[in-house]
Amino acid sequence: MTAQQMLVVSSVLDALKKWKIGGLTFSSSVSSKDLREFAHLFVSLDPTTKSIEDFRQELVNLAVAGIELKDSRLLNLKEDLPENRSSKAQHKVRSKTAYGKAADAVGSLTQSSRDGKALSFKQAKRAIQNIVDLMMQDESIMLGLTTLRCHDQYTHNHSVNVSLLSIALANRAGYPKIELADLGLAALFHDMGKSTIPLEVLNKPGEFTEDEWTMMRNHPTEGVLSLTQLRGITNLPARMAAASFEHHMNLDYSGYPKLKTPWKLSLTGRILTIADCYDAMTSSRVYRREPMSPSKVLNMMLSKSGKSFDVTLLKLFVNCVGIIPIGSLVVLDSDAFAVVLKPATDTTESERPVVKVITDAQGTPIDNGPELDLTEKDDAGEYRYSIIRLVDNTEHKFDTSRYFV
Ligand SMILES: [Fe+2]
Ligand SMILES: [Fe+2]
Repeated sequence: MTAQQMLVVSSVLDALKKWKIGGLTFSSSVSSKDLREFAHLFVSLDPTTKSIEDFRQELVNLAVAGIELKDSRLLNLKEDLPENRSSKAQHKVRSKTAYGKAADAVGSLTQSSRDGKALSFKQAKRAIQNIVDLMMQDESIMLGLTTLRCHDQYTHNHSVNVSLLSIALANRAGYPKIELADLGLAALFHDMGKSTIPLEVLNKPGEFTEDEWTMMRNHPTEGVLSLTQLRGITNLPARMAAASFEHHMNLDYSGYPKLKTPWKLSLTGRILTIADCYDAMTSSRVYRREPMSPSKVLNMMLSKSGKSFDVTLLKLFVNCVGIIPIGSLVVLDSDAFAVVLKPATDTTESERPVVKVITDAQGTPIDNGPELDLTEKDDAGEYRYSIIRLVDNTEHKFDTSRYFV
């Protein structure tokens, strides 16, 4: 699919979501007149003032036959009712376990690679398949786990985070589910080439020497070399090799490795570049930089849209994490602090995500504060709650990840 087609698909999906249409069925007998009538209604009716029922009625009025609008599944409309809470808690536990298993798989495979042993991707494959399934049910819980910043096994967490963010982005870009798992696995091992770098260098507390930088800049190519020697997984090494080789190249080829011959970046590579950069910049351990707050990182990335990053994919990525990204710390107009849990479902209200309140108005932490949908309005049609200010959680050394796990 081209970037242009992806943009069309994602805007159609957004429109379906606004209508709360879960699916469309076209019977084989549907006429071109019926399709034209349907298309006209789809773009001319306003989902903010009309319901899916009104839409159906209009189709009946125009005698359009053979096109059926299906309600979106209740799963997406679930409210935070007590009976849903326990299943949400279970889902969180399952997501956390899957995350841990993927991190373990990266750890043991990197170790095997260092020891020169044969590699088996079985465990990693199973973990990623599980992650894809869980993400299809609730993307926000999985993406919330990527905000885990303080962890011993940072490198492994980075690999899992990049995998999760890539899967979410590829899903927005319309990848079929079967391909999501392949892409997730490729993303999980994008930094495999780092296993050729001595641990003393990787964990060096100070600045790298020029030689050490050369070694670091070689990891995309080293990754290809180790991945292409793999046996036992069909098809995948090509995609995995591309993920490794291309993830630091940048859209305008300003990154590395530098090539003398023309090269066309794969979609996997372009997706990976975005997910990898976002996670590396928001975390502290990759290349020893100080971490930046998610929204600063996003702004920096947006300033390089079309240069380092694919314009359409970056837009879709912003839809995944939100313009005020998941894990951001904010102050509400009630003076309470809150953490962004997931982006607004309606992209036209992207500045109004779903948040969890974590302090009272005096700034005193509270346990299990309410989850607020900032798009909610009161009877007078005014927003109930609004964000008045973004707080830099990295400057405040505030770990927002505990609200996700
Ligand atoms: Fe890398
Ligand atoms: Fe990376």
